[in-house]
Amino acid sequence: MTDTTTPMTDTTTNVPPRLTRLTFHGPLSEARAARLVGRVSPGVGSVLDIGCGWGELLLRVLEAAPGATGTGVDLNGDDLARARADAEKRGLADRVTFAEESATGTVRDPADLVLCLGASHALSTAEAPHHTAEALRELRRLVRPGGRVVLGEGFWQRTPSADELAAMWPDAHVGEHLHLADLVDTAIAAGFRPLWVETASPEEWEEFESGYRSDVEEWLATFPDHPLSAETREKVDRQRNSWLRGYRGALGLAYLTLMPVA
Ligand SMILES: C[S@@+](CC[C@H](N)C(=O)[O-])C[C@H]1O[C@@H](n2cnc3c(N)ncnc32)[C@H](O)[C@@H]1O
Repeated sequence: MTDTTTPMTDTTTNVPPRLTRLTFHGPLSEARAARLVGRVSPGVGSVLDIGCGWGELLLRVLEAAPGATGTGVDLNGDDLARARADAEKRGLADRVTFAEESATGTVRDPADLVLCLGASHALSTAEAPHHTAEALRELRRLVRPGGRVVLGEGFWQRTPSADELAAMWPDAHVGEHLHLADLVDTAIAAGFRPLWVETASPEEWEEFESGYRSDVEEWLATFPDHPLSAETREKVDRQRNSWLRGYRGALGLAYLTLMPVA
């Protein structure tokens, strides 16, 4: 007898996939991640990851610093579950805690290394771009003397046009981000010296943006008539347009390796 239950209509098990093809939740290549880990891991005893998501960079630092312990905080329970499963698989579960909590005003202990990648908004309630300065003051509070902060933060590579802003996201405006020099100056004003300044390349952006939707695009091509396909298609089309017509080439992502001034 033929099974009449097609996977297409079983909406309990066949749901659009989410971010299954991303290693990092941002434009970060394997090569840059390896350089970052190599730069900040030696001698580290404690790591705090703000807005850790599934905490891939935190886990890599712990692998590179065998005596270190880590804490990742995030609001997303699904991503934290992925983080805990990855830590278990890699034998790191006894050295890392992934906590489902807000990082805003966190009372977590200061750490030797503080990671905050694409998550400065988690440290501030101020309006953009002032949230960056407030987040940097929080990072200064959360890093131990002599320690390091790695901040992954958006900046304008060039001032976007009115048409690009209109295509980005609701209420996008020029004042939302700083230019790179001003971002670095803001870090200095918060009490840091910038040990390393680097920015995501076009290739890292394309890998990230394509990887972000690739699994769900394949799902849409496979199940065009699924009950969830219309809203899913609308969402990914909106996301892709926001990138291709909006922030592609205008929005950058800076990775700042910072040391607090004594
Ligand atoms: C772009 S993702 C970056 C994740 C991770 N740092 C990485 O690079 O792979 C931003 C993360 O910030 C988290 N986030 C947003 N607001 C937060 C808050 N108030 N407290 C903690 N995490 C927050 C989101 O849930 C999301 O996982």
